[in-house]
Amino acid sequence: MRFLMAAAAALVLAGCTTDPGRLAKNDFVGSEKCQSCHKEEYKTWKETWHAKMIRTPREALLKDAGDNWGKDAKGNAGPTKGNITGAPYRMDDVELVVGSHWKQRYLVKNPTTGNLQFMDKQWNTVHKQWEPYGQKNDWETQCATCHATAYRITSYDPANPATQKVSMVEHNTGCESCHGPGALHSKTEKKADIFNPADASVEQSALVCGYCHVRKENYNFKTAQGKHREDQPHPVIGETYKAGQDDWRKWYPEKMLIPGVLPGQPLDKNYPDTDLNNAFFFDEKAKGWKRYDARKHHQEYQEYLQSTHYTKDGAHCHDCHQPHALKGREKLAARDSCADCHKNKKYDIEQLMPGLASTAQNLFVRSHTFNEKQDRKGGPTATGMPEPAYFYRK
Ligand code: HEC
Ligand code: HEC
Ligand code: HEC
Ligand code: HEC
Ligand code: HEC
Ligand code: HEC
Repeated sequence: MRFLMAAAAALVLAGCTTDPGRLAKNDFVGSEKCQSCHKEEYKTWKETWHAKMIRTPREALLKDAGDNWGKDAKGNAGPTKGNITGAPYRMDDVELVVGSHWKQRYLVKNPTTGNLQFMDKQWNTVHKQWEPYGQKNDWETQCATCHATAYRITSYDPANPATQKVSMVEHNTGCESCHGPGALHSKTEKKADIFNPADASVEQSALVCGYCHVRKENYNFKTAQGKHREDQPHPVIGETYKAGQDDWRKWYPEKMLIPGVLPGQPLDKNYPDTDLNNAFFFDEKAKGWKRYDARKHHQEYQEYLQSTHYTKDGAHCHDCHQPHALKGREKLAARDSCADCHKNKKYDIEQLMPGLASTAQNLFVRSHTFNEKQDRKGGPTATGMPEPAYFYRK
């Protein structure tokens, strides 16, 4: 791992087009800037879900959802109101849409805090149906950290968390989510001024993906509604997570619950009344295997830590997943990566990586414990789902 100097001098506004007023002036420059010199990486990143999580309804409201806004084919009613204020909202009121690969959720204004709140239904992309969604915390203070780049809390009063202010350099998982701040490098064009996970240890590179692909509960900061958070903003107000430089496991461990990651928080026990309630299988089978598969989505990091791919330095996340194409090479699919290292073995992904972690009704993401004895039956996954059709576009 490389230790980098922060490029505090660069005051560049970049990235997000939806809410420029909130953008931070700092050492992050945004993915558009990287594009000028790294066209191939930019183009192939732009095609991934990392670049498509948070979009305007004009860009990305799903056609199926738009066509069935009032009621789906099964008779389930669509979204009608905001979860926090309870006030009625229509499709035209949607400010941003979140997701589209597995499910899509809808953000409307929360006039009480000036932030965004969720509507009461989510669209299941695979099963094409409306499902209840009850999240009652502002998007900016419960979700955005993992769905944006260089998220930071810029002002915070513990006695009055509703007044907190946040900023981000851009929506989505931009280049600097994984490469750290890029202002200095964008000027010098030097290798030494940017973090490349390919040069890092398996522990350090997994920390980068693990900042988001993890489930945790935070008692250090509260949401605007005064609840525990599910993300982990930087402990210093005004500061943000810097990939390649920060070890977020050490930030405020006494105020975090991250089973399987922090000491004294094993996976073979339950954490009721938290977001980690029944988050892993910890039945007799799991205890026998000593492999605890996830029961909720975005826990791949906690699963992967248990496998020899991690413990024996077997494979980094990025050995199987290319976040973008590498120069002069086509972007490979994860399921085609195994043969790179396992020359004599053919793994069946359906058996080894079943869909066990729930993401919507009867829809699951794949296990990442890489357990050769795996025999749990998986449910439907989003594998093979094509890019969906969007409402305003053919
Ligand atoms: C003005 C041009 C320019 C801009 C803007 C730029 N880069 Fe680079 N980048 C380069 C060059 C040139 C190299 C190759 C350096 C070398 O091989 O010594 C490079 C190399 C890299 C590498 C590989 C480092 C390694 O270890 O091999 C990464 C990763 C990278 N850039 C990421 C980024 C990101 C992320 C951004 C935006 C924040 C960015 N770059 C913006 C010119 C640029
Ligand atoms: C989700 C994390 C992630 C995102 C987002 C991401 N990268 Fe990377 N990038 C990586 C990883 C991991 C590697 C090392 C991959 C490897 O060598 O197998 C890498 C490698 C690179 C390299 C070196 C390429 C080479 O051929 O060696 C460059 C340049 C680069 N990234 C630029 C970018 C730019 C520009 C963006 C945004 C458009 C971006 N990255 C977005 C994770 C990411
Ligand atoms: C700790 C990081 C983290 C937090 C906090 C978080 N997410 Fe996510 N979210 C992820 C990751 C990672 C995925 C990708 C799925 C996976 O890895 O299993 C994801 C997936 C999603 C998806 C599915 C995207 C698609 O294309 O179908 C939606 C929708 C979503 N999150 C909304 C939210 C909302 C709403 C909140 C706040 C209540 C939230 N997320 C909080 C990390 C997070
Ligand atoms: C800033 C948070 C963040 C970071 C860092 C991050 N991810 Fe993600 N990732 C997400 C979210 C959120 C989604 C869901 C995107 C969606 O579907 O809307 C996602 C989706 C994915 C997906 C499924 C979608 C697809 O394009 O196949 C894979 C695979 C993935 N991430 C791998 C990685 C790897 C590997 C790394 C580290 C090199 C990484 N991610 C780093 C937040 C993050
Ligand atoms: C970069 C090389 C690399 C890639 C790519 C890779 N593996 Fe592995 N894998 C290893 C190594 C090394 C080990 C550890 C062998 C040992 O125990 O010493 C391993 C171990 C395993 C194990 C046993 C894990 C355990 O914890 O008991 C399974 C199962 C496995 N790999 C499946 C896969 C599958 C499936 C893929 C493709 C999706 C894949 N591997 C891709 C290198 C790799
Ligand atoms: C040994 C190879 C390997 C490693 C290491 C690995 N993955 Fe995966 N991952 C896969 C395969 C194979 C799939 C399934 C792809 C498919 O459905 O075609 C997958 C799927 C995913 C998905 C989408 C789940 C779904 O059901 O579609 C996410 C998100 C993801 N991986 C994140 C990560 C993260 C984060 C890491 C590191 C903490 C990681 N992966 C490490 C091979 C790997």
